[in-house]
Amino acid sequence: MPEPAMSRQATDGQMPVLEMVNISKQFGGTQALKDVSLPLYAGEVHALLGENGAGKSTLIKIMTGIQQQDTGEILLDGKPVKVGSSQDAQRLGVAAIYQEPMIFPDLSVAENIFIGHRKRGVFVDYRKMQREADEVLGRLGVSLDVGSPARGLTLAEQQTVEIAKAISLDVRVLIMDEPTASLSAHEVRTLFRIVDTLRSQGVAICFISHRMEEVFEIADRVTILRDGQWVSTQPRSEVTPASAIRGMVGREVVELFTRTRAPQGDVRLSVNNLSREGVFYDISFDLRAGEVLGFAGLVGAHRTDVGLALFGIAPADSGEIVLNGEAVSVTSPRDAMKLGIAYSTEDRRQLGLVLPMSIASNISLPSLPRYLSNFGFLRTEAENATAEQYREHLRIRTPNVETATGKLSGGNQQKVVISKWLETHPKVLILDEPTRGIDVGAKVEVHHLIDELAAQGMAIIMISSDLPEVLAMSDRVLVMREGRQMAIYDHTEVTPQKVLSAAMGQAEDLFDFKPGTLDPAHDGTEASA
Ligand SMILES: Nc1ncnc2c1ncn2[C@@H]1O[C@H](COP(=O)(O)OP(=O)(O)OP(=O)(O)O)[C@@H](O)[C@H]1O
Ligand SMILES: [Mg+2]
Repeated sequence: MPEPAMSRQATDGQMPVLEMVNISKQFGGTQALKDVSLPLYAGEVHALLGENGAGKSTLIKIMTGIQQQDTGEILLDGKPVKVGSSQDAQRLGVAAIYQEPMIFPDLSVAENIFIGHRKRGVFVDYRKMQREADEVLGRLGVSLDVGSPARGLTLAEQQTVEIAKAISLDVRVLIMDEPTASLSAHEVRTLFRIVDTLRSQGVAICFISHRMEEVFEIADRVTILRDGQWVSTQPRSEVTPASAIRGMVGREVVELFTRTRAPQGDVRLSVNNLSREGVFYDISFDLRAGEVLGFAGLVGAHRTDVGLALFGIAPADSGEIVLNGEAVSVTSPRDAMKLGIAYSTEDRRQLGLVLPMSIASNISLPSLPRYLSNFGFLRTEAENATAEQYREHLRIRTPNVETATGKLSGGNQQKVVISKWLETHPKVLILDEPTRGIDVGAKVEVHHLIDELAAQGMAIIMISSDLPEVLAMSDRVLVMREGRQMAIYDHTEVTPQKVLSAAMGQAEDLFDFKPGTLDPAHDGTEASA
């Protein structure tokens, strides 16, 4: 059994604000956490690292009262406390923000910030509420129009509102579970500035991300979990990317994206001047068999909308889609699937999975006819065997393939979404953010798979906000900005600068690009629009 993290007295004698001690939690046959300890100190960012299903979200759900531990203790200022509900957590000054913020679109920004106070009837004065909302946002170095409804806010701005809400409630511990997963590079900068501010104000922050470079930039201390067990807690300075990966995966993983550049086949898909009024305009490209076409751009560039049009979910209203030399009409996913087009969604909750159904049923769902016997019975064994293959190949962490997908961790659900579309054996595969929220080990597997499929002649569109991934995996990169196609670069000529400047609509020489970092060193724009 591992030693508890760092015990009550840290190196500098400081006491953690919040400390999880020997926490265990079991779900049916799954031991999600076993004797896990985690100390969170005031004025520190503590990163939590681990593969998909390692137990990170479960640990923070216990801290915030969404779930209860089976055994183990939670200490606040060294004293045991019971966090039996979200209200308990709020009262103790513990708050969490997630990838998808919980915002009330019809309420104003100010109302959203103070919604937790309203019960207490503190605000009768609307003006005062707005003033105080301004002040809270000011403390974060952000300005938003606090009087306008929250519905127009970007995801990043919604997160800011959630953080503002937390600090208005005098938060002492702020937990962020993959807050950057859907943010653009520029928005990540803004978030990190806010995190810096909170840290200097003495808030204890727990930060979860699968993006190593973010962890190494922002964390003061790093705890690694593997298979629900504590592996290590170390100052960031003592952790290297290689040691962290070894800790998480339990083996060496070389994160190199490799593409075998096989000769490409004929043009499989031609898209000519595809437009959807008010969303995207004049998208034109050819995609060959065996080619990977990367779609780069900032969040909000409407890349997903092009994917949705090609898959018939939100069809284009003008332009042409030509498949194998023949103009086709794609007005529903059914059309698309008949034509051999598959679309693996970025949003696993909305379109991806039937959560109460098993992993095996989800994977076979779009290919169901292949799993029916001559008499129309479902061949469960065949279905399970297929699911087993994907489970092994993509390292889906689950007791068995008959488990409901709703019980999987976020990253493992994403792997099921990809599996399900691969199982349709499409001619054209659209992958939307295929590795978002997926851990390093599995990411390498997904990249291998993309490479393999391309080598077998599949034509692949890969929408990704992960710039190194797009650059390494694509044969060509199409860059979009605000619904317009800005450029297509061949892999032999593409550079991060070219992609970024096309994506941001700025001249290349405006960037002071430091190799090894992915964002322009000075983006020069204001904190948050
Ligand atoms: N409500 C639940 N019922 C059954 N099993 C669950 C439940 N919640 C989590 N688990 C299981 O507990 C384990 C830990 O899941 P958790 O969500 O904490 O992982 P995670 O580290 O956050 O992973 P990810 O990086 O993919 O988000 C997983 O095996 C998961 O399937
Ligand atoms: Mg999680």
